Order: sequence, then structure tokens, then C-alpha cells
Amino acid sequence: MQNILITGGAGFIGSNFIKHVLDNTNCNVVNFDKLTYAGNLENLVDVEFNDRYRFVKGDICDKEDVLKAVKEYGIDTIVNFAAESHVDRSILGAKEFINTNVGGTLTLLEVLKEQGLSKYLQVSTDEVYGSLPEDRPEIKFTEQTPITTNSPYSASKASADLLCNAFRHTFGLPILITRCSNNYGPYQFPEKLIPLMIAKALGGEELPVYGDGKNVRDWLYVDDHCSAILAVLEKSRDGEVYNVGGNNEWYNIDIVKLILKKLGRPESMIKYVKDRPGHDRRYAIDSSKIMNELGWKPAHVFEDGIELTINWYVENENWWKKVMSGEYLKYFEQNYSAKMH
Ligand code: NAD
Ligand code: DAU
Repeated sequence: MQNILITGGAGFIGSNFIKHVLDNTNCNVVNFDKLTYAGNLENLVDVEFNDRYRFVKGDICDKEDVLKAVKEYGIDTIVNFAAESHVDRSILGAKEFINTNVGGTLTLLEVLKEQGLSKYLQVSTDEVYGSLPEDRPEIKFTEQTPITTNSPYSASKASADLLCNAFRHTFGLPILITRCSNNYGPYQFPEKLIPLMIAKALGGEELPVYGDGKNVRDWLYVDDHCSAILAVLEKSRDGEVYNVGGNNEWYNIDIVKLILKKLGRPESMIKYVKDRPGHDRRYAIDSSKIMNELGWKPAHVFEDGIELTINWYVENENWWKKVMSGEYLKYFEQNYSAKMH
């Protein structure tokens, strides 16, 4: 692994991963990103003049774009983060999710096959496993849990995983898949729970909690997801699937209350709103395979990770205020106006 094409590198996890790779390997990195509403080159100002970093504006659905970058930079490895990533947006409209998450993945797999690249890693999600019962805490998602797709987003991600399996099985290609739980940390777009609640609390606005607030998510600090992906790239056999999680389940409402407490704001700012349609009740990941086989473990405990994250949003108000404008305001109105009444 020498020259890595990181697709979706201007988004939340991709930009954190680029910095993680530059800090922890000698590899050259090409960030290949379409710069949708979620892509932001400001996430990468620290590395923009690094000799081992290049940015290419391109679309993973456009094979010519991808081939050009692969040939120009002698790419041997692709790590695919590029996706439409927000469940609520997939409920408002699924088409872009299918185009990018399924069609884009197919394009990358065709390039992998035709160019004979040495490795491909698909960054997938625990959402492909559906939802867990809340009264059976001993049950978690393992790599053997059947695929069950409950939102258009999860259906698009699962379809991409199935294409990866098919290309690996049929053509013997070197394909890996990781399925991670909910990430949090710096540079997360403030449409997702934790940054949205921090931004609302800092802005003195109501914090919209879906349903009864008792849905459970398993939170992992973003840099721990990055170290897991790097461990899989460096140490795994081809063809493996690895779950990645924080062993860190929280009710949404408790996360929201914790954020308010840390920011010194009152719980009266919480507004229970109409639930997300088809809302998955509980996610929890069994990470024993990656821990036992590859020796990965998270470096951050939640108490420290959430502190780092809240402080980052407090100190980087310009970053999130800028992205919460324009198209974001239209989306916010569309997603929340019906829920608030
Ligand atoms: P994000 O929405 O912050 O970033 C997505 C990036 O992909 C953006 O930079 C965007 O510009 C780019 N992109 C979108 N369409 C593109 C296209 N057609 N061509 C090139 N680039 C394109 O997403 P994220 O939260 O950083 O998630 C990254 C990946 O990790 C996704 O595949 C997501 O499914 C997966 N994942 C996310 C989480 C999480 O908690 N956020 C957890 C598990 C897995
Ligand atoms: O599990 C991994 C997945 O986690 C990733 O694959 C997705 O890309 C990522 O977006 C995330 O999906 P979720 O739907 O779990 O994340 P989100 O931050 O949108 O919501 C987390 C929980 O908080 C969920 O139960 C819905 C709830 N929620 C969310 C928002 C935006 C609210 O109660 N209010 C809100 O305003």
C-alpha cells in the first residue's frame, strides 16, 4: 500500500482518516471528492500543503474521473468513504443515495477490476443489520447477523456491500468491508445528532429529540474508527468483513442531557418531536473479531471523546455556522417543520 485514493475525503470521517493516514504511515493520499453539501475542504487546511496529500474534485459515479485519478497518481488502494450518509435525507428522497452509494460503488469496483489494483476497502455501516431488541442487551450485531435494511440509506449501503461480495466472489478481487457504529468527533456535519445538539444548545434554540428519546446508539470516537480501518488495510486477509464499535450504548435522550449539562444549559431546551419514520430502536456492535484478530481497540473513552468534541465545536463556531446556511436551511425546514408540530 503506497498510493491511496480516499473517496469522500472531504467529509467527516474521510477528512479525519486522511490526517490519520498521513500521521501514521508513509503513504501518499489522494482525496477524491465531489464536494457535495457534506464535503468541505476547510476540514483539511492543516494538510493542504503536505507533500503526500493531493485533492482531486471528482464524482465516484463518473468512471472517467476515477480512472484519470487512478492512472495519474499510480493508485494501488482505494478506500471508499464517499456516500450520501444521512438517514433523514434518505427518507426525504432516496434517489441520490442509490446513485452514489450503489452506482458509485459499482464504478469503483469496475475500476478495481480493470486496473488490477491491490486493495479496496468499503466503509460500510452497522445500519445494514437492521435494529436490535431493547430488552435483550446481550444481543449485539456480529458479522454473521443477517442483512436487514430499514431505511433507504441502509438499503443503499447494504446493496453496495452485496456488490462488493459479488465482485470478490466472482472475480477474486481483494475487497474488504468494515461496518462501524455511530461516530462522533470534530468536523461532523451538524445534521447528525451530537453536533446538531451542540450547535442548537450554543445557539439557544430548541433541541429536537425524535420520539421518546429512548433509541439506543453505540458511539465511537472518529479517530478510533480511523485506526480500525487502517488496521484492516494493513493486517487483514482479503475478503474479510469486520464490525467496529465502541461498546458504548447510550439512549439519545441521555446524550442530549449530557451535552446540555456540559454546556451549562437547561434541560427545558429539549423539545420532543415527531419520530423519524421507521426509526431503528437499538444498535450495538460486537467488535470481538477485529479486537481478537487484528489487536485493534478504541483509544478514547466516551467521557474524554465527548469532552474533546464539545470543546471543538465551542472553539470552531465559524466552521459550523458557515455550513448551517444556504442548502442546509432548506433541508432543516423540510425535515423538521412537520415534526415540530
Ligand atoms: P459525510 O456525509 O460527512 O461525507 C461524505 C463525503 O462524500 C462528502 O465529502 C461528500 O462530498 C462525498 N461525496 C458524496 N457523494 C460523492 C460522489 N458521488 N463522489 C465523490 N464524493 C462524494 O459522511 P461521513 O459521516 O463522513 O461517512 C463517511 C462514510 O462512512 C459513509 O460511507 C458512511 O456510510 C460511513 N459510515 C458513517 C458513520 C457515521 O457515524 N457517520 C458510521 C459508519 C459508517
Ligand atoms: O450507525 C451508523 C450510522 O450512524 C451511519 O451509517 C450514518 O451515516 C450516520 O448518520 C448514523 O446514523 P443515525 O441515524 O444513527 O445517526 P443520526 O445522528 O442521524 O441520529 C442518531 C440518533 O439520534 C437516531 O436515533 C435519531 C436521533 N435524532 C437525530 C437527529 C438528527 C434525534 O433524536 N433528533 C435529531 O434531530
